[in-house]
Amino acid sequence: MLPTTNFDPPFTLTRASHVSLSVTDLAASRDFYRDVVGLVVTEETDDAVYLRGLEEAAHHSLVLERGDEAKALRVGFRVRTDADVVAAERHFASIGLEHRRVEKPHQGPTLQFRDPVGTHLEITSSMDLVPRKMQNFDEFVSGSPQRLDHYQVVTYDVQTATDFWTGLGMRMSEYTAKDGTDELWGSWMEVKGNTHDLVFTNGHGPRLHHFAYTVPDASSLLHAADVAGALGFGQEIDRGPGRHGISNALFLYLRDPDQHRVELFTTHYQFIDLEDVPIRWDVSNPQRAQLWGMPASRRWFFEASEFPGEGLHEPLLHATPATLEEFLGVH
Ligand SMILES: [Fe+2]
Repeated sequence: MLPTTNFDPPFTLTRASHVSLSVTDLAASRDFYRDVVGLVVTEETDDAVYLRGLEEAAHHSLVLERGDEAKALRVGFRVRTDADVVAAERHFASIGLEHRRVEKPHQGPTLQFRDPVGTHLEITSSMDLVPRKMQNFDEFVSGSPQRLDHYQVVTYDVQTATDFWTGLGMRMSEYTAKDGTDELWGSWMEVKGNTHDLVFTNGHGPRLHHFAYTVPDASSLLHAADVAGALGFGQEIDRGPGRHGISNALFLYLRDPDQHRVELFTTHYQFIDLEDVPIRWDVSNPQRAQLWGMPASRRWFFEASEFPGEGLHEPLLHATPATLEEFLGVH
């Protein structure tokens, strides 16, 4: 069923902004994101590393935290003002949604919560400012990632997730559905004016499938693949390069030393005008996933990062797109 966007939401989300991961070898993960992906290290402490993309003026868009287990700790969004954090707190209290205020280094007022399908989240209204490095071309490394763009979450209930987030003002730009129906298999939703900030796809969840950074162009994407190969991470490219039908992204997916997945991509399109309607794809249509090239491997489809303390639920919808192994007849 297609959702209805609430154009008068209880608080104003502005964009996907920061993600926190628990990693088991802090130095190895720092090296991966700095050298293989190309992010800038803003700050290191004994227990955490803060990184950002080259054009980002906010202190961090990726936080690596030292942990005993590899987990996706939470994904973060920005809201417009401090008053929006207060309004979110009031709204979540009114609907009985678990939430808590926390103090986070280099962040303004911050509120953590779980959405109705168990995604771990955080909103904040500001961060410390640092210099943008978008014209420090001499410091561009590997894929030269510019800014964090979106998250993809695996969920057992795409409809409930979609209804919750469109109720907070997100708009669906594209969706996949069981063939010939509007029974949602995946939903791509945005608040910042391109195709997505937050994606939910059908599967055992909740789990973080990936977070994504933009890169300047196709050659940056290929250079990242070459650098990954040169630094021993060639086998950790678990999909791409390729071109998604959905969102028109030229993509490359890499797994970090704990198997968290990061996407580098180019070229989403704008989705701003309110008369624009979402693009619909049958889940069995391979062009939805790749305009050209091979389908994604089982590893890409079925592996993802769990949130701490969240049990996994069987997906409500039983439909799986063809994997690379099925395409090749490998079992
Ligand atoms: Fe993505």
